[in-house]
Formats: sequence, C-alpha cells, structure tokens
Amino acid sequence: MEFDKKHIKPWVVASNRRIENMTNKVVRGWDRALGRLMVGGRKANYDDLRYEFTGGPGEAMRRKHYDRSLRLLWKAQEHSPQLDFRDCSIDERKLLEMALRSLTDQEKAERKRLSMPEYKEMLDREYTRREKQAIVNVLAAIGHGEAYAWLVSAELLNEVQSTGARSALTMQVMEEAKHFVVLRELLMAFDVPVPRQSAWAYLFLEGVYKSPGLEKFFGMNVVVEGIALSLFGMMSHLPGLEVLRLFHLDESRHTALPVNYFRDFPMTAWQRHNPRARMRRLRIILPALLLLPHLEEDLGELGIEAFDFGGSALRKISLLAERAGFLLPIPFNQLLSLLNQGFNTYCTATRDEHAFTDFTCQDTTRGMEEQRVESRIFSLA
Ligand SMILES: [Fe+2]
Ligand SMILES: [Fe+2]
Repeated sequence: MEFDKKHIKPWVVASNRRIENMTNKVVRGWDRALGRLMVGGRKANYDDLRYEFTGGPGEAMRRKHYDRSLRLLWKAQEHSPQLDFRDCSIDERKLLEMALRSLTDQEKAERKRLSMPEYKEMLDREYTRREKQAIVNVLAAIGHGEAYAWLVSAELLNEVQSTGARSALTMQVMEEAKHFVVLRELLMAFDVPVPRQSAWAYLFLEGVYKSPGLEKFFGMNVVVEGIALSLFGMMSHLPGLEVLRLFHLDESRHTALPVNYFRDFPMTAWQRHNPRARMRRLRIILPALLLLPHLEEDLGELGIEAFDFGGSALRKISLLAERAGFLLPIPFNQLLSLLNQGFNTYCTATRDEHAFTDFTCQDTTRGMEEQRVESRIFSLA
C-alpha cells in the first residue's frame, strides 16, 4: 500500500506529546486524590491501562453468561409469530422457512404458526373469559416484575467488576427488556384488562430496586428470579403459553449469576453477616409472601394451590440464597418451617377443611424440560 505521507516536524510531535503527558498526570492525579477522599474522581470504573474494566477480564463469567446467552438467544418472531415482532434477520427467516418446509404434515400441524386472530380464537376455545383473566392476573404480577428486572439489572451493570461480569449483566439487561415487551404483547392478546401492580408487588419490587449495591443480586437474581422461574415453570405447559419455556431458560441462567460472580469477587464477611443487611433481606421477602393470598383466587381458577406454589418457590429461593451466601436473621430451614406453619394457619382459618400440609416440599413446575432445567440447578432429581 502506498501512502502519500505528510511530514510533521519532530519538535511539534514532541511538544504535543509532552503537553498531553503533563495534562494526563494532573487530571488522573487529581481524580485519584478525589477518589481517595471519596468526594468524586473518575466515574467510569474502567481500567484503560489494561484495556479492561476494573476487576480484570473475568473470562469464566463471560463464557458462562454472555457466550451462553448469545448461543441461546431466541427471537419472538420465530417462537410467537402471532405477536407483532420482526426481530429475525433475513437469514434467520430463510432458515425458519426451510425448516418448516422440511416438516411432515403431522409435525406441521403440531407446530402450526398462528396468526393473531387464530391465536385469539385458540385462546377462546381453550379458556373461559374468567380463566383468561386468571392467567393474565397471575402473569401480570411477573410482567410488572420484568419491568423492574430491566431497571435493576441496568443499575447492577455499573456495580459489578470485570469485563466478563459486565458482559453477563449486559445480556441480562437485554433479556429482561425482551421479557418485558414480549410478555406485555402476549398478555394483551388475551383481550382482558391487565391489572396494575398490587400493593404487595409494589412494596416488594420497590424494595428490590432500592437495595444498595450488590445487595440487588439478592432481591433480583435470587428472589424475583426465583419467583419468575417457578411461575414460568408452572404455566409454560398451558396452551398458548409455550413461549414461557424460553423465559424459564433465561431466568435459570440469571439465577446463577450471583454465585458465579461471588466466585471471582467474594462478599466480605461483613457483607454476609452484617445484621442490618440480613434484616433488609428478610424485609424484601415479606411483602412478596402477601402475593400468595392476593393471587389465591386466580391460581385456584387454574387448579393451582397458591401455597403449593409459594412453598415450591420459597424452597428454590432459599437454595439460591444459601448458595450465593446471602444470610438472613434466622437460618433458612427455620424460616421455611415458620412460613409453612403460617401458611397452614391461614388455610385452617380460611377454609372449611384443611389438613396440615408441608407446602415447602411441593413442586409446581410442570413441563418436562423445565423440570430437567431445574433439577440441574437445584439437584432435585
Ligand atoms: Fe425476566
Ligand atoms: Fe431474569
């Protein structure tokens, strides 16, 4: 390659470099001093000398979350063609058409691509209006949760160290955005009113969003994701809700994020044992429990015992929390047993006949594939 080179006088180059070097020392020295005094300094936690974010490469985290998320990235246009999404590339659309052409007639009938009017007809065939409302009421609770998951993961992105952890959180932000918009469209298709957040969901999710620093991992990736995982696992076998399988798979990855992150950057003993933090974690869980009586009627409409769902979700949440090292004021097994007694007291007081049940031993995840995913996470098999 031939370049028409321009000659710059060496003294100009040298003085430009000297001025830049001096300014660099002053600017960075000043910011370092402010940072040490905790009154400001560099805002970006970026290490430009190493060309990495503060905390290093974090490659294990990148491989487990970022690479995997990209590998398992799903498109709404392919899996819920009745919704108004055009997120497949031309190549993906061609591949999809080829795959559909190669199916047998029976396979085609099983995997019928529905248009929106056909989808709505199918919902009307499968469910009464009351059942449709029950499905929407239950899923709207987590639909509003997806909005908070989007907000919280975007904030967590700036709390974590290492290039790998940031890339993992970036994928979570993207997946939560997708969950929010896809679930929103899906619920709208039921043609029944979508309820507002209940007071309990409001208190619970605001508490999670307001958690300081990495404590957001507890509220979001342990509690909210634990509830979402349980809910999607319980509903994804229902006609018209098959796409929730993919939500379930994404959430299973999100629940593993804190454990993998703390492997590289462990919490200090104080962060784990701090009595105020332990109390705050308990306060986050409490309003979420009130969602059970709130959704009891709608879950009952779908043949689901609300406290079976609650016990199943709480057992999974406690396993995730223990694994990540988030302690509560009392050990998890004691908390589970107390809550189980509370659930039974409520049932005895509000039902005609109630026999004592160990709700925390129940499992409400229905789909085979979802059970397999969860048994890998929780070793329940
Ligand atoms: Fe989500
Ligand atoms: Fe998530």
